[in-house]
Amino acid sequence: MDTYILKTKDLCRDFKRQHAVSDISLSITKNSVYGLLGPNGAGKSTTLKMITGMLHPTSGEIFFENHPWSRNDLTKIGALIESPPLYENLTAKENLKVRTLLLGLPDSRIQEVLEIVSLTDTGKKHAGQFSMGMKQRLGIAIALLNYPKLLILDEPTNGLDPIGIQDLRNLIRSFPEQGITVILSSHILSEVELIADHIGIIAGGSLGYEGKINPGEDLESLFMQVVKNSKKAGA
Ligand SMILES: Nc1ncnc2c1ncn2[C@@H]1O[C@H](COP(=O)(O)OP(=O)(O)OP(=O)(O)O)[C@@H](O)[C@H]1O
Ligand SMILES: [Mg+2]
Repeated sequence: MDTYILKTKDLCRDFKRQHAVSDISLSITKNSVYGLLGPNGAGKSTTLKMITGMLHPTSGEIFFENHPWSRNDLTKIGALIESPPLYENLTAKENLKVRTLLLGLPDSRIQEVLEIVSLTDTGKKHAGQFSMGMKQRLGIAIALLNYPKLLILDEPTNGLDPIGIQDLRNLIRSFPEQGITVILSSHILSEVELIADHIGIIAGGSLGYEGKINPGEDLESLFMQVVKNSKKAGA
């Protein structure tokens, strides 16, 4: 039987009169990679922000390791949502140092995460002068600092070059066997197909599909169908 690290039940988030996320119930299997797919404005980031405590749900529930989610669970969750939270006038190492101090982690962890994301040679350059891909890598390094059990990456390949994308794909694929579950969001179907064990497709704030990726399945037509159905439902 699958065990779940995280479940959401009828999760909703309104902004003024807009239902950005409506009744989303996700089941994330432990030690797997879960791809959250959806077009622009579908509600992916809003959902991930609720799971990471950046936004309060309007209604619904979140369960982490089979208990109702609380802020304490954030010690086991690492996240990179939208743009990486960097101090622009500090170097990569200094950015990580600030956080190891806050988290009470040893200095040695800084070099470890920099090696994981292949960002060991930026020296004295400030994060403000980093390329988009370098910023993204540093953001992932920050998300990994506290040895998370659940890693949440919102559009992680944003700004990465093809080598960076391949490196990141291999890296993400190595996480489940290290006891790290990954939720990543994307609108790039081919990326998710190569990386995820399970997918959820969101459109118009609703979950239109959740399941395993079956070999040979036409993900594009499934995606289009979900988007079409959500437009019909919203019309
Ligand atoms: N802080 C906010 N205030 C008002 N509306 C918001 C806010 N954040 C998100 N929304 C709205 O909620 C909807 C879902 O946005 P969200 O950022 O979750 O989409 P997304 O699936 O992450 O899209 P993208 O692929 O473009 O990142 C959009 O219509 C957006 O305008
Ligand atoms: Mg988003």
